[in-house]
Amino acid sequence: MKTIVAMPGDGIGKTVLPEAVKVLTAVGFKADYIYADIGWEYWCKEGNALPQRTIDLLEKHKVGLFGAITSKPKDAAAKELDPSLQDKGYVYFSPIVGLRQHFNLDICIRPCKSFKGNPLNFIRRSGTGFEEPLVDTVIFRQNTEGLYSGVEWTNPPKAVREAFESHPKMKAFKDVPGEDLAISTRIVTRNACKRIIKEAFEYAREFGYSNVTICEKPNVLRETSGMMLKEAKIIVKDYPQIQLWDTNIDAQMMWLTKNPENYGVIVAENMFGDIISDGFAGLIGGLGFACSANIGKDVAVFEPTHGSAPKYQELNPSIVNPIAMILSACMMLDHIGENQKAERIKKAIAIVIEEGKFRTYDMMKLKGGPDVFAKGACTTEQMTGEIISKL
Ligand code: NAI
Ligand code: MG
Repeated sequence: MKTIVAMPGDGIGKTVLPEAVKVLTAVGFKADYIYADIGWEYWCKEGNALPQRTIDLLEKHKVGLFGAITSKPKDAAAKELDPSLQDKGYVYFSPIVGLRQHFNLDICIRPCKSFKGNPLNFIRRSGTGFEEPLVDTVIFRQNTEGLYSGVEWTNPPKAVREAFESHPKMKAFKDVPGEDLAISTRIVTRNACKRIIKEAFEYAREFGYSNVTICEKPNVLRETSGMMLKEAKIIVKDYPQIQLWDTNIDAQMMWLTKNPENYGVIVAENMFGDIISDGFAGLIGGLGFACSANIGKDVAVFEPTHGSAPKYQELNPSIVNPIAMILSACMMLDHIGENQKAERIKKAIAIVIEEGKFRTYDMMKLKGGPDVFAKGACTTEQMTGEIISKL
């Protein structure tokens, strides 16, 4: 039997993760769930939001299902630390970023597929009326490097500044005082490029997408975006049935509303992938529907894109949409070869959405709060129950 490391985390992570487990159980997926500690509570109590015991569990069992965590700015984090740990040099860092780095979860996959009948679907004017293009785009976001590598300085040390000044373009900044100079670097490695592009093409082949788009900006970011595109042009040769397209991130954002239905798989660096995946998620219903996978060579962690939504965590019954979490669980099933079970769950979700009898508050475009039920919204558990009834 498979063992899944279940990490509910904080806030609504604690609400939606058990809902996904209910659906997994109902579809007949037999697994042991080991609940693992992660998040704010462990920062406050132990000075570490990602305890070593959780890392060890993932190391051992390889597959994690994650809810969401709460992060707060440095000062707030320091204040909430247990008094016995104060001033001992503990520094808060985000445990999900920590997981991605520790296990080198370098490929983030974010499918953005519209469900027919979802009132949040993007619609577009056509002739005298409107049309609803069905989006089915899967974003592959490089998850560990690029502009989010974390190599950055304000007032860079002398050696760094000198190294930068060996670049002719740095002349423009030579008189800027150190304290007025901030630098964030965009680091791209050829191996990571190759790996994500290859995986994107494999995914396109397995799931029947006819194109892979590299969404970068090689005309300006000649080195980093340039390397991505160059590697893609080599890799595409192994996939004669799939077209390679390339777009610039800025133009792609503009085309988001023009022809989103044309794009199959999209590959982008960390920050561009962050941007483009939120953009596409907006077309298919937003945070209540946005699922994701973080895939490394050895370990994989599946999570909804949304955070812990603290303002709703105390509401009982819960109002939040469990679908993003349940779809993340489907990605986990696909990853471990249980594709048919994943398909059954996705079909059940599709039926519930198309029937339209049960809608969480976000699907009704209501402002969140305890009064949403009176306005016709269903609870988190009712949504799960309805999905299970359609399996
Ligand atoms: P958020 O994603 O928690 O919430 C943003 C808004 O989206 C909420 O106000 C809510 O209206 C809506 N929303 C989120 N999930 C929903 C769901 N399942 N159903 C219906 N509506 C939903 O982001 P926010 O408010 O910026 O951050 C809250 C906390 O979450 C912060 O501490 C932040 O650091 C953390 N966070 C954690 C992430 C993670 O665990 N991967 C990702 C994003 C934020
Ligand atoms: Mg984001």
